[in-house]
Amino acid sequence: MIIFGIETSCDETSAAVVEDGRRLLSNVVASQMEEHARFGGVVPELASRRHVEALLPVFRQALSEAGVTWAEIDAIAVTNRPGLLGALLVGTSAAKALGMALKKPVVPVHHIEAHLYANWLVAPPAPMDGGERGGADYPAVALVVSGGHTDLFHLRGHGDYVLLGRTRDDAAGEAFDKCARLMGLGYPGGPAMQRAAEGGNPKAIAFPRALLPGTHEFSFSGLKTSVRYAMQGENLPSLSDIAASFQEAVVDVLSKKTVAAAKELGVEHVLLAGGVSANTRLREVMQERCDKAGLALFYPPVALCTDNAAMIACAGYWYLQNGRTSSLDFETRASEPL
Ligand code: KG4
Ligand code: ZN
Repeated sequence: MIIFGIETSCDETSAAVVEDGRRLLSNVVASQMEEHARFGGVVPELASRRHVEALLPVFRQALSEAGVTWAEIDAIAVTNRPGLLGALLVGTSAAKALGMALKKPVVPVHHIEAHLYANWLVAPPAPMDGGERGGADYPAVALVVSGGHTDLFHLRGHGDYVLLGRTRDDAAGEAFDKCARLMGLGYPGGPAMQRAAEGGNPKAIAFPRALLPGTHEFSFSGLKTSVRYAMQGENLPSLSDIAASFQEAVVDVLSKKTVAAAKELGVEHVLLAGGVSANTRLREVMQERCDKAGLALFYPPVALCTDNAAMIACAGYWYLQNGRTSSLDFETRASEPL
């Protein structure tokens, strides 16, 4: 089964062709990041306009790289929730038009669920940074860490998820973005912070770790305040020391709480998903702690951690396998919990 995936929930216009939920035939991502960087964050109206411009060229490229025609596509999967409403509507309108014209089913996909499904995709060797294993399976504990979410889930099967806890304030990616901005590192903050942290001393500053014992919740607003203070004193620590110490504090909390949840629930698989799971230090520390606890850790290749349509197509495949179909009058929604 060949699925054409479409993703326009934020600032990446992406289309992908995926076979049987695993084989990535193409995954084209047109990023608007540089344009939004001038404003220090995503400007919703600008994002919608750029999606309109980029969509058809990205569709054509995804088809031609995959070497397939519209006639060979079995279904269309599209992100319809959550995200920037105007941006989402560009993708869902196009998907509905395609569905009507081609007389193929259109599957509306939850963006966060698709991030989880990125773990089910086996990446090709190049140009992705392959090497990571496939083989994630249920039951599992999953940490979704993106620009808008820090959610810990108990995954019991396809479409059967229990939210264990989420952030009380900032999402992990938001903390990276806001602190990077405070430090003048630019946007998006996550990759900039990771680069700044290279060579820094992660123990230079003992930033607070909100472990919130007895809960599966997170909080990063106190950490953000501490970074602001660290930037204000005399005898400022080096930016790389602040960055490394900040990153270490975030990674420490995320990994401790995820491993604790997996042990508590008695699952053997731990999954990472979302843009922040591209972070090298998070992957390292998670790996160490999972190894120690006898847990199998899975995370997608870096290119599939941030927003992309391959994960949407993969999710669409599993929706169809599990009978989660929809008529063409489905809604597009800015928010909806998974
Ligand atoms: O999943 P994603 O692409 O979009 C959302 O659905 O939000 O995640 C974007 C977030 C941003 O906050 C970005 O700064 C963060 O992921 N991010 C990273 C890294 N790469 C992206 N955070 C830390 N380290 C990274 N290497
Ligand atoms: Zn995302």
